[in-house]
Order: sequence, then C-alpha cells, then structure tokens
Amino acid sequence: MFMSQGVLRMRLARADDARAIGVLSRRVVRQWVLPDQPRKAGRELLMRLTAKAIRQKIIEGQRSHLAFLGEVLVGVASMRDDHHLVHFFVSTRYQGRGIAKRLWQRAWRDAMHRAGTCRFTLNSTRCAVPVYLRLGFRADGPERPSPNGVLSTPMTLRLPAKVVKRA
Ligand SMILES: CC(C)(COP(=O)(O)OP(=O)(O)OC[C@H]1O[C@@H](n2cnc3c(N)ncnc32)[C@H](O)[C@@H]1OP(=O)(O)O)[C@@H](O)C(=O)NCCC(=O)NCCS
Repeated sequence: MFMSQGVLRMRLARADDARAIGVLSRRVVRQWVLPDQPRKAGRELLMRLTAKAIRQKIIEGQRSHLAFLGEVLVGVASMRDDHHLVHFFVSTRYQGRGIAKRLWQRAWRDAMHRAGTCRFTLNSTRCAVPVYLRLGFRADGPERPSPNGVLSTPMTLRLPAKVVKRA
C-alpha cells in the first residue's frame, strides 16, 4: 500500500522533530478540528501546537510516536503519562491507509511495556470518534468542553486480557 513512498517507518520523537510535528499538526487541526470548535478554544489549541510548545513537552518526557514515509513525516501520536492520548494526527493526503492504526499499536504497546497500562483515555474531536470506535475505544459520555475548552467526547479503551498477555 505504501510502495510508492517506501515502507512506513516509526520512531520516537526527539526535540529537534518539534518543528515538523508542529507543521503537520497545525495543518491537520485547521482543516479537521477547528471547524467544530469555538474560536477561542481553537486558537488556544493551535498555541499548544507551536514548535516551542511541542519541544518543551518532548523535553519534559512526553512520548510522541512518529510515522514516516521516506523522509516525510505523515503522522504523530503523543501519549501523556503512559495512558492518555493527547495528540493523534495523520496528514490529510495519507489518511485512510492504516497509519493511525499502526501508530496507535506502537503507542499502546510502548505504554504497556513501560507502565503496565491496560486502560487508555482520550478526548476525541467530533470527526475522529468513528476512528476511535474502530480502534476499540468507547465513549464515556456525550460531547462536552474538555478542561482546555476544546469540544470533545471523553473515550476509554480497556485492553482485553488476551491482548495484554500476547503483547
Ligand atoms: C483520526 C486520524 C488520526 C485517523 O488516521 P488514519 O490514518 O486516517 O486512520 P486509519 O486509516 O489507521 O484508520 C483506523 C480505523 O478507523 C477507520 N476509519 C478511518 N477513517 C474513518 C472514518 N472517517 N469513519 C469511520 N471509520 C474510519 C478505518 O477503517 C480503520 O478501521 P479498520 O482497520 O477496522 O478498518 C486522522 O483521520 C486525523 O488526523 N484526523 C484529523 C485530526 C483529528 O481529529 N485527530 C484526532 C484528535 S482527538
């Protein structure tokens, strides 16, 4: 599926990836997330996605898993405290090819190996709810403003015991 650009390669972000992560994230957020958000919450969300803010989070230990096709950064999944998925973005032109699924698998395995996590949480934007349902998350309630003002649906995934045993 990825033959024309080579194999999908994944690795952990370093501080000097912050600029590329910011460019990808802000572009995806502008297109897919902001149309459903109050203006103020959207502005603040973009401010949390500047290279400076992202670099700081990486330095503080937030684990961001990156997906590349050739040299091109195509996706990012960032986990906070080994259980809360804070950012999950795939470039528009590469969506629908299984990249988020691969990133998510890497992110949960990493958290499970590091911290024994088998319960994950996130606050989903409206357009991503169907994707998270496919990944096994369930909604904990209706859409509401999350603590940072972004309208989102709180969701949880509990890994089945047989998956935990196999990983
Ligand atoms: C959400 C997002 C990261 C998913 O990335 P992706 O690479 O396109 O997702 P995948 O191709 O790996 O798809 C994962 C699963 O969701 C399903 N899926 C993908 N898009 C879907 C859609 N629009 N509706 C329903 N299901 C969908 C896929 O079929 C797949 O399930 P399957 O393997 O059981 O068939 C990406 O669409 C994105 O960046 N969206 C905009 C930003 C955003 O809202 N991010 C989430 C913030 S909380």
